[in-house]
Amino acid sequence: MRDLFATDLFEAAPQDISLGPGAMWLAGFARGETESLLQDVAEIARAAPFRHLVTPGGWTMSVAMTNCGALGWVSDRSGYRYDPRDPGSGHSWPAMPSSFLDLAQRAAARAGFADFAPDACLINRYVPGARLTLHQDRNERGLAAPIVSVSLGLPATFLWGGLTRADKTRRLRLVHGDVVVWGGPARMTFHGVDTLRDGDHPMTGAIRYNLTFRQAG
Ligand code: SIN
Ligand code: FE2
Repeated sequence: MRDLFATDLFEAAPQDISLGPGAMWLAGFARGETESLLQDVAEIARAAPFRHLVTPGGWTMSVAMTNCGALGWVSDRSGYRYDPRDPGSGHSWPAMPSSFLDLAQRAAARAGFADFAPDACLINRYVPGARLTLHQDRNERGLAAPIVSVSLGLPATFLWGGLTRADKTRRLRLVHGDVVVWGGPARMTFHGVDTLRDGDHPMTGAIRYNLTFRQAG
């Protein structure tokens, strides 16, 4: 597997790793585009700053979030939902940059999902210590479309489970430029991110970003 090759001395060539029916880990798929993606993240965050949302249960999330696109994923004491407006400002979310849309569509197609038309991109920002507990992405209206997830900055341990919460989870080390796509029979797979370890990435410092594209509306 990739860990045999991904050392500090030389990087593995991009490769596609099946995670089971409907799910693909496209290792290194976005590696050549990360600089412009990060510039776009910074611009989005100027218009719609990262914030720590509160869960319906009253917990403040350790991951900071913002969105771009027609819809944005938000959480508060009343529940999880997609909202056309940033509750912080009352304005629409920043438009989805063409660099984002183009990457998401290419990745989806490569994993076998033609015609992916994401209308929402959730942007997660992790600092060391932040984590995302095991969950399913289930607030989207149609579940026919896949989820496309892009990792930037510090590496993370992605928890990849099964269709029930109790299923055993695999631990995948996602690095800068990796993309994971899951849809079809894998669409409701439980997933999460283990506590981010400390580190210093040349492009982001002590931060990991993740973009997740969804067809939400
Ligand atoms: C998510 O499940 O929304 C994000 C996953 C990740 O950060 O890799
Ligand atoms: Fe998720």
